[in-house]
Amino acid sequence: MSKDKLIIFDTTLRDGEQSPGATMDRDEKLRIAKVLERMRVDVIEAGFAIASQGDFESVKLIAETIKDSRICSLARAKEGDIDRAGEALKNANGGRIHTFIATSPIHMEHKLRLPPDEVIVHAVNAVKYARNLIDDVEFSCEDAGRSDIDYLCRIIEQVIDAGARTINIPDTVGYAIPGQFGETIKQLLTRIPNSDKAVFSVHCHNDLGLAVANSLAAVMNGARQVECTINGLGERAGNASLEELVMAVRTRADLFPVETTINATEIVPASRLVSSITGFPVQPNKAIVGANAFAHESGIHQDGVLKHRETYEIMRAEDVGWNTNRMVLGKHSGRAAFRARLDELGISFATNEELNDAFQRFKDLADKKHEVFDEDLQALVSDTKQAAEEERYKLVVLEASSKTGETPLASIVLSVNGKEIEAESAGAGPVDATFKAIEKIAESGATLLLYSVNAITSGTDSQGEVTVRLEHGGRIVNGHGADTDIITASAKAYLNALNHFAAGLKRAHPQAADV
Ligand code: KIV
Ligand code: ZN
Repeated sequence: MSKDKLIIFDTTLRDGEQSPGATMDRDEKLRIAKVLERMRVDVIEAGFAIASQGDFESVKLIAETIKDSRICSLARAKEGDIDRAGEALKNANGGRIHTFIATSPIHMEHKLRLPPDEVIVHAVNAVKYARNLIDDVEFSCEDAGRSDIDYLCRIIEQVIDAGARTINIPDTVGYAIPGQFGETIKQLLTRIPNSDKAVFSVHCHNDLGLAVANSLAAVMNGARQVECTINGLGERAGNASLEELVMAVRTRADLFPVETTINATEIVPASRLVSSITGFPVQPNKAIVGANAFAHESGIHQDGVLKHRETYEIMRAEDVGWNTNRMVLGKHSGRAAFRARLDELGISFATNEELNDAFQRFKDLADKKHEVFDEDLQALVSDTKQAAEEERYKLVVLEASSKTGETPLASIVLSVNGKEIEAESAGAGPVDATFKAIEKIAESGATLLLYSVNAITSGTDSQGEVTVRLEHGGRIVNGHGADTDIITASAKAYLNALNHFAAGLKRAHPQAADV
């Protein structure tokens, strides 16, 4: 029996980016969008175009570059938002406007301060307005997980009549329980007279750790689109994870009446890229993409797997892209090979100078490190792009020392708006001393919320990838840096965070309290 298609709608670049500190710039978003396209994701929600000029430009660039996935922009049920989304998508091969309004009693009364009938008017007008700009319009009932089912039936029937082609049922606060959520989807599909005119979608948050289970329950009951993110990134506890959904449907093909067209071998590369760009590490025991997901520690398991793999493995590591971080380049690789691999990874540079700089960085890295993997190249590209930007703080020289029994010291030279300034400091360790020396110059007054180091690849010659999260005046920013020397990587990450503060990016949050 032929199966229905399950549409995979990835919102890593929109809801994922709403995780505090996960802000990505335009180039970073494009790199992720390219991996999602290679993965054959059906719809990429590229952002919330009205949030800021930067968000608008990211959606526009992605819409102009990506050809094989549909590109979507979020818009509140407001003409200004919808116009901005339409403008950003105007050159897309296939574009979608995703408009939404809250439908739960608590949101309508306390956030929107609108009576339910008026909310329906806003929803219908928004969908009609969007349909004048584009054919593909999705409508979401924000906080549907806590909305009244009779009211959902009323509003959904009317927005389908107004032209919505996808109806999304978000469990915005992660409140639903699988059996109950599946039943809600079933009820909506049976009770709404024109439900066959739209694809029903779900968008589940993970506050109770049930986002994937709820999404799958919805699929069992008729949902044919799932909204999800790589590594489950997203507001608070995150969204349903793409890799878990895709592999559950594929591994239990005996149960699910649907199939996806995802190229699962891109899952691990995508997971690594998102983790490296956002600085959100993947926990080792995370399903599918965690470092231990396919590791067998106990002797009994190892013995079983060696005799017959299926004794303890329900999926094959290589099917989701493990072991595909091929050793690509080494110190004898030339410019052409370097460029060819970057092309394969979907990486390009704005100018020849940037490409030359990246090649020089690659040569320096290859001198220190025998084998240069794709992950190293991704980190190196981030470094090159950071260096090319007009940044307030740049690292010129760093010297850090630590010796058993002696106080660690750091002395640093920074270029601040082009002028070199020097400082020294002692600290609890060389990283602490380095950060203190930077602060003597920058005097940012920021609080360090998180410091984490990860090895990009295996081996002691691996580059250390450092994430620093700083908070100042209620704003949270992440900074990243990579280097084979983790003190240098730490300094780069700290300066990257300070540069994000200096850029002073201001953006609207889609779920803020206005219609
Ligand atoms: O969680 C949510 O309700 C959302 C909507 C804007 C779709 O992200
Ligand atoms: Zn959401």
